[in-house]
Amino acid sequence: MIPRQQASPRGRRVLLGISGGIAAYKSAELVRLLVRAGAQVQVVMTDAATRFVAPLTFQALSGRPVRLGLFEAADEAAMGHIDLARWADAILIAPASADFLARLRAGLADDLLSTLCLAADAPVIVAPAMNQAMWRAAATQDNLRVLRERGVRVWGPAEGVQACGESGPGRMLEPEEILRALNGALDVAGDARQAPLAGVDVLLTAGPTWEAIDPVRFIGNRSSGKMGFALARAARAAGARVLLVSGPVTLETPPGVERISVESAREMHRSVMRHAPGCDIFIGAAAVADFRPAQVASEKLKKGDSGSMELALVRNPDVLASVAALPEPPFTVGFAAETQDLRANALEKLRRKGVDIILANQVGGEEGGFDRDHNAVILLTADEERSFALQEKGRLARAIIAALAERYRARRTT
Ligand code: C5P
Repeated sequence: MIPRQQASPRGRRVLLGISGGIAAYKSAELVRLLVRAGAQVQVVMTDAATRFVAPLTFQALSGRPVRLGLFEAADEAAMGHIDLARWADAILIAPASADFLARLRAGLADDLLSTLCLAADAPVIVAPAMNQAMWRAAATQDNLRVLRERGVRVWGPAEGVQACGESGPGRMLEPEEILRALNGALDVAGDARQAPLAGVDVLLTAGPTWEAIDPVRFIGNRSSGKMGFALARAARAAGARVLLVSGPVTLETPPGVERISVESAREMHRSVMRHAPGCDIFIGAAAVADFRPAQVASEKLKKGDSGSMELALVRNPDVLASVAALPEPPFTVGFAAETQDLRANALEKLRRKGVDIILANQVGGEEGGFDRDHNAVILLTADEERSFALQEKGRLARAIIAALAERYRARRTT
């Protein structure tokens, strides 16, 4: 079914997938209409599509190089396929050939477009175009049934005379019809995907801190920043304005996220306290060093002859507790990484630091945590407990952000 609503795609990010079919020539007009309406359009073509229309046509119309393959080093370096999948507000495949529908149903990821569909959170929309007999074929209809069940939207096809001379269902919708439908879908998608944190300011910390001993040495920890960065990305995808204060990590800043890079706990504290007043949600995902050397040597320390060495340490400020102690604190969320007595220690931290939510994770063992790609957490509030099973950090972050958004909204309405 085609939505009726007349919104505008201005500023929205449309990933237009083009698979192999003669209707690909209509997609050129679709790109032109989308761009004229203010959308950002990234075209991705399958190999077969390039036999019908040259990529250069779409590059000229969209103002962006067309993405063609999974293994194009320069393209991947500019924006990797997973980032590209997350970039999109909607993935529209027009035309969607019978072959592409079959591959989508099978969950294949053997080319860029099918991989993007598999990796995306955004709504996937297909505008089929094929010969009427291929459309009617039991295999195609079965593929469409499964795809619809999975939430893929199917727009068209229209009936009429086909390029092959036959007549029947299988004509791709006209570009104007697709644009109208997309306006409505983006609006609905926007509501569903962006509403949870639309207009909300989220401040996050991530990564380790480095506490200088001398010009070449520091005290650090094993935090990779992956969890904090995944949360920043998920908060952004949920519509929030996101400021990420990060310790030294090797991760790329997620698209749309503003980042301030710091090194030490005191720098992190300073930066956070400058931005915390006025923010709505604070998430402390950084592994902040509790102590720092009492003095930073201005020259590299010498070994000397002694068999031991003592380093005096002093306490660092607690960033999370400082935010929670503000006169009008944001909704504050902290982490508790524990090696033992996870629940009891996390609850004690919740009370002592005065935060709204603690996300407790076991460090070490099978449950992931520091410097891993997977993690499992327990969300604890003063009166609630919810477990999130071991899963990839990106997926976990999205689930956590959805849960935080619910609780943040509930608190605002009480
Ligand atoms: O006390 P502990 O370090 O276990 O608490 C962990 C939580 O407190 C994390 O959310 C961490 O980001 C935050 N924290 C902080 N500043 C510190 C120490 C911890 O913000 N100096």
